[in-house]
Formats: sequence, C-alpha cells, structure tokens
Amino acid sequence: MCGIVGYVGRTSGRADAGHGALDVVLEGLRRLEYRGYDSAGVAVVADGEIFSRKKSGKLSNLLAELEARPLPASLTGIGHTRWATHGGPTDQNAHPHLSDGGKLAVIHNGIIENFAELKQELLAKGVVFESETDTEVAAALLGDIFRNKLNGDVSDGGLTTAMQLACQRLEGAFTLLAVHADQPDVVVAARRNSPLVVGLGEGENFLGSDVSGFIDYTRRAVELGQDQIVTITADTVEITDFYGAPAEGKEYHVDWDPASAEKGGFASFMEKEIHDQPDAVAQTLLGRSDLNGKLTLDELRIDPALLKKVDKIIVLACGTAAYAGMVAKYAIENWCRIPTEVELAHEFRYRDPIVGPNTLVVSISQSGETMDTLMAVRYAREQGAITVSICNTNGSTIPRESDAVLYTHAGPEIAVASTKAFLAQITAAYLLGLYLAQLRGNIFSGQIKDVLADLGKIPAKIQKILDNAGELRDLARSMKDEKSVLFLGRHVGYPVALEGALKLKEIAYLHAEGFAAGELKHGPIALIEEGQPVFVVVPSPRGRDSLHSKVVSNIQEIRARGARTLVIAEEGDEAVRDYAEHVFYVPETPVLLMPLLTTVPLQIFACELAAAKGFDVDQPRNLAKSVTVE
Ligand code: G6P
Repeated sequence: MCGIVGYVGRTSGRADAGHGALDVVLEGLRRLEYRGYDSAGVAVVADGEIFSRKKSGKLSNLLAELEARPLPASLTGIGHTRWATHGGPTDQNAHPHLSDGGKLAVIHNGIIENFAELKQELLAKGVVFESETDTEVAAALLGDIFRNKLNGDVSDGGLTTAMQLACQRLEGAFTLLAVHADQPDVVVAARRNSPLVVGLGEGENFLGSDVSGFIDYTRRAVELGQDQIVTITADTVEITDFYGAPAEGKEYHVDWDPASAEKGGFASFMEKEIHDQPDAVAQTLLGRSDLNGKLTLDELRIDPALLKKVDKIIVLACGTAAYAGMVAKYAIENWCRIPTEVELAHEFRYRDPIVGPNTLVVSISQSGETMDTLMAVRYAREQGAITVSICNTNGSTIPRESDAVLYTHAGPEIAVASTKAFLAQITAAYLLGLYLAQLRGNIFSGQIKDVLADLGKIPAKIQKILDNAGELRDLARSMKDEKSVLFLGRHVGYPVALEGALKLKEIAYLHAEGFAAGELKHGPIALIEEGQPVFVVVPSPRGRDSLHSKVVSNIQEIRARGARTLVIAEEGDEAVRDYAEHVFYVPETPVLLMPLLTTVPLQIFACELAAAKGFDVDQPRNLAKSVTVE
C-alpha cells in the first residue's frame, strides 16, 4: 500500500555530505514505490516554511515536477507514494496534505474510518478542504488542535502533543507523519494497525513504512507497537502511546542487503525474483534441521505440550499466500493427520468460525502487514487459538502479534506479483507440518529425514527449470494476443493452477482462470472452443491411485473440443506427449513437493507474456504489494 518516508538530519550529519532531506526521502520513495504508485509527493521544512510538491502517476512525474520547480535545501522532510482509497489518483488527492495555513504537512497510509464525521465538525468551524481524501481531514484535525487548542505552542512538545490528541479522535487504520514549519527539526509519526519502522542513524534519523525506506543509510531499525507515537529529531527518537505515556521500541538489525533489493541485471524485479527461487528455498531450509534429519524449529517457542493437543489447523492468508496455504494443507493433513482448513483471511472472522484453545491458526504473509490477515489473526487470538505466522518480513506486524513466527528467508520481494515468497511459504509450511508430525509422532523419523533430503534437492531442480525455460519464453511471447488462458490441476496441482491464473491476471491483465481438473465437466468445459489455450498441471505418474490417468483423461476431454493443451509434467512422463501441443518437463520429485517445481514454468510464462505486451511487470495497474487496508 502507500509508501511513507520521513527524515531529519543535522548540518554535521548527512546533510553536510551533500545529502539533504529531499535526496534521502526520494531514495526511500524509489525503493518503496512498489507498495503503491498512483501518485507521489514530498514536503520539506526550510526557512520557517513548508514546501511541498505532489503529482499523480509514477514517481517519475514527481521528479519531473521537482526539476521544474525545485525545493530549497532542507534537513527535514517527508515523502509518500499513494495507492488511492478515498478519492481518485489526482494531483489534488496526492499527499502531503497541508493545514494550519500551509504550515503543517501530513502524509498517511490507511483509512480513517470516522473521517466523514470529523469532516463535518471541521467544516462547521470553517475549514476548507481541497481534496476528497480522509488524509486531509486528519491533517485539518491535527492543524486545528495545534493552532486552536495548543495555541501553536511548541515549547511543550507542540506537534507531538497535538498528534496524541488527534490520534485519540481518529478511528481506523493509519500511519501518519507530520512536519510543521514552527518545529523545523522534528518529524512526528503515529501508527495504528498500519506499518511504520524507525531507522537509527548518526546525527540523523529515519521513518519508513518498511526498512526499504532507509536501507541505503542504516541497518539499525526500531519496531514500534500499536497505538504509538514517535518523534524523531536528528539525535533523538522518543516514543509514547496516544496519551503521552513513554513507551519503548525494540531495536533490531536489518540483514537485507540493499543490493539484493536491486534488479541484479534482470529486466524486472519479478524476473530476478523468479531466478532467486533456488536461493529462497535453500535459505528457508537452512539451519532448521540437525545432522540426524531432526527438525529443530526452536524459534517457534510454543510449549510442545500445547502443540501436541492441537486438533484442528486453520491456515489464513490472502492472494498468493492463500494458495501456498492450500498446497500446505495437502502435506500437513498427510503428515500430521490433523484436519486443516484454508481460508481467505478476509472471510474468516465474518462467519463465526469454530476456534478454540486447541486450534492452531497459521497465517501466511510475505509482508506481514496485510490488514485482512492481521485482523483475522487478532480475531483468532481473541478466540484463544494458538497463532503461528509464516512471514518474510522481519519485525512486521503479523509475526509480532502472533504467538510464534517461522520466517521465510526469501529476501526482499519487490515485484508486486509474488513469486519467490510463494515457494518460500510452501517450504516453511512443509517444515511446520513436519515439525508437528515429529512432535506428535505421526510419522517415523526416517520418513522426516527423507522428506528433508528431498526438500534439500529442490533448489537445484528449480535451477534446472530456470536454465531450460527458453521454449517457454518463446511460447509466452507468441501468445501475447490471447484473450483468455485457462489452468487445470488436481490435488496439489490445483492451487498451482490457481496461482498460474492469478499471475497472468495480475501482470498481463489477461482473463485467466484456474480450475480443479475434476470440476471441468461440471461447468467450465463449456468455455472450451477451438484454439482455447489450457495449461494442465499433470501429477506424477508415480503418484497415488489413478490421479495421473484422471488428469490425462481431462486433457483428452478438452482436446476433443479444440483446446490447445500446454502441459506441465514430470520428466519421464512420455504418455502425456500424445495429448499435448507443448510439454514442459520438470524434474522428478515426490508428489507433495511438486508445487515447488510446477509453479515455476507458470511464473516464467506470465512474466514473459506481460513483458511482451509491454506492461510494467513489477508495478501492475491497480495493485499494491502490501494491502494495508481492509
Ligand atoms: C497483495 C499482493 C499479492 C499478495 C497478497 C498477500 O494482494 O498483490 O501478491 O499475494 O497481497 O500479501 P502478503 O504480504 O500477505 O503475502
């Protein structure tokens, strides 16, 4: 969702080295642009005034505006990339929003739910609004409190106190950052249910929606809690709650390398991240088992006695992460024999779910900030469930609010469409499933050792797929004018089909749908007409029962009706050749681990097709990397 950056330096700090607030803020916005990007804006404090520029469209539009109308040098600044919620993506609705006669600038991520009521109150006081945003209402409220309630008195914390008072009145989810012309060396920020991290520098301090906002400058970060306000100057960071009581943040070291957030020679972040996958899986496996093949998930820190009592697992997630959950269900039920449900997080708490102290709720989220998932986890906790988060972002909100976390070590994922996080999520969920099975004695330790050994071979197998993707790329380019592509899968291949379709929708804006192959005859087969491309994820012929032959029958059914069949199959499966126009082989692997391989060709296909259509693969229209509103 929106990207937020704040900075305060002092003349003997970075500003002396030629880095003014604007440079730092723009660099942060560049790295955060993936969160949302329908407009961008900055504000700096200089010469007792606020100077602000904002523009709809991508960050490049703002840069052009800054070139045409430069800002004065400054040591204090804030910046924002917006993903519109209230009010369309226009210049006027872009942040920052000003109040207190242009002396106060505010940026915001989230939704102020009681904005209409507050707006009425402020209108009655004669406030004039220029935008349709809820943010401008927050800015006006803050300005009104600062000017009329505190008389603009900065001697006693001024802006910080005003922020506390304003936050007491705001409902919803928000990260707010404010600068005021009368307090030129301070940025004040507040957070409720929306992400915000502090970066600690020498003679300078930073704020960001996540650490990418300041990763070029410092690796020392501070996690904030809910309902906290932080005031940064060049030398100090002070945290309070919304009522002024002092609070503590938790400092941690950011181990992401800024270079790993760059494209590394690939045309897009997505392409790079697809190629990062061998490493993402390997890193996620690293250090989680001992030499005897015993899982050592000490980081879970949940009383094993509690885990032994678990009688139901609910996996909660959204988007790609939910498909990772669907894959995990097959493995967890198979290994642990615990009934496992997978639910879209935004549906969960609205249906009065059955959750109790023996329910294990596993949330899966790359960002750890997806609001729908966060709210579902909170609800589950309130109902007494044990909550474990599978997450890729250290220090983010969902793991912090869960009983335990299992981090995926995929490294920063920048492209909006998730790829390497997906494979890392599946890997981590498998580890969790195996760990539960180990703890509860569901499967023999020898079997666990074997699965771990098979997982250990996955990175090299993914690499093989990546190295042999030429034909797939050619096919994708040749299909750039298709209007619709369908995906079929069965068993663990079903969520893979859903994920393949989602990737095409997200980045190629192409109608795509995934179906369970067996469901085809109950309706979707009516869609098949001459030339309709259909990807089919074919299960291993070594798999159980007649899974393979059932899917081969499905291929025949659609072929007979004119479909163009594009098959993902296991090496050695010669039988499918007769029924497919194209076959893409993936290396042999046990059935339950197949999604870690069969997903990869579908990712490459989507990425290549979208690039061939000339679309911005990393920043698809209307989407945000991390959706921090419900
Ligand atoms: C957004 C992104 C998806 C992602 C989903 C869940 O919708 O566009 O790519 O899968 O959020 O994100 P999370 O960070 O919770 O995994």
